[in-house]
Amino acid sequence: MALQTLNPPLTDIEGKLNRQQRLQQLYEEISVLKRERNAVILAHLYERLEVQNIADHVGDSLGLSQVAAKTDADVIVFCGVHFMAETAKLLSPQKKVFLGNRNAGCPMADMITREDLIDFKAQYPGVPVVAYVNTTAEVKAESDVCCTSANAVNVVRALNVPRILCVPDQHLAKYIQSQVPEVEVIWWNGFCPTHLRMLPEDVIALKKDYPEAMVLAHPECDDPIKDMADFIGSTTKIRETAIQSQNKVFIVCTEDGVRQRLSQDCPDKLFLTPTRACAVCPNMKLTRLENIRNTLRDLEPTEEIDIPEDIAAKARKTLALMMAVHG
Ligand code: 13P
Ligand code: SF4
Repeated sequence: MALQTLNPPLTDIEGKLNRQQRLQQLYEEISVLKRERNAVILAHLYERLEVQNIADHVGDSLGLSQVAAKTDADVIVFCGVHFMAETAKLLSPQKKVFLGNRNAGCPMADMITREDLIDFKAQYPGVPVVAYVNTTAEVKAESDVCCTSANAVNVVRALNVPRILCVPDQHLAKYIQSQVPEVEVIWWNGFCPTHLRMLPEDVIALKKDYPEAMVLAHPECDDPIKDMADFIGSTTKIRETAIQSQNKVFIVCTEDGVRQRLSQDCPDKLFLTPTRACAVCPNMKLTRLENIRNTLRDLEPTEEIDIPEDIAAKARKTLALMMAVHG
């Protein structure tokens, strides 16, 4: 056993070398295509590390929206999930926008449809709707303002209204409610399956072994996890907090891409995950370098993100208001 550890089988080493060579080749092909197409690659922090490492910008939903709004590239390849590429298209309508992998959706965003929202609003006439950016363009078009995990609290405070409807994530809504108690938050019962896989008992177990560990949580986590957190914020804020902290051990309560990225950013620190199940969003892992290469190579018109203009115009207003309030 010990011998095997010291001398890994040749096939393992060959396998790793082949993989490295393959990645290198894909990196080169993508770099050439990117220049030819005047394209920019945006990647969310939940993406595979090799995808994050080829991207021009890596970040949270807010940061990537800001880049999408400002870029002078002709083509945006968004390595994330569908609502993120839609947001990029809404903010940069004149550009060609592609999803790194066309099949990458967000189950939480699909938990509320336009028709659901129309019915929900009918129960609370006149109450403004705050739509998490994790929604379809159709749902945004029926809403008053958008928010992301990075600016939700500030957006709600700035609205200065007594009540809001908050869709689709009940856990983000509960977090907003705890931070803005003067506003009544009425929420839709959506949730993120990946964040709900993180359990408080697993945080407690890790804390027993590492009492000094700092707990970092995304607002999409359930309340008991957030109650134990030393810091709650968006994926970028979690990353920045861990990088800047003097602490050496962290329990990262969000999708595993952030933990992997932090392990790469700070090799001298230890990043732990609070789940015996896997804290992986399968949709965020669908995009591989081959998909990016093929997307840039083909620029297949039928694969372009396309939002009917009547919906886009309304949805754009909700994003513009978010950006004006706290962009
Ligand atoms: P962030 O905006 O914090 O990156 O989160 C996006 C998301 O999908 C979380 O599950
Ligand atoms: Fe959607 Fe959750 Fe995946 Fe984020 S982690 S994209 S909210 S399913």
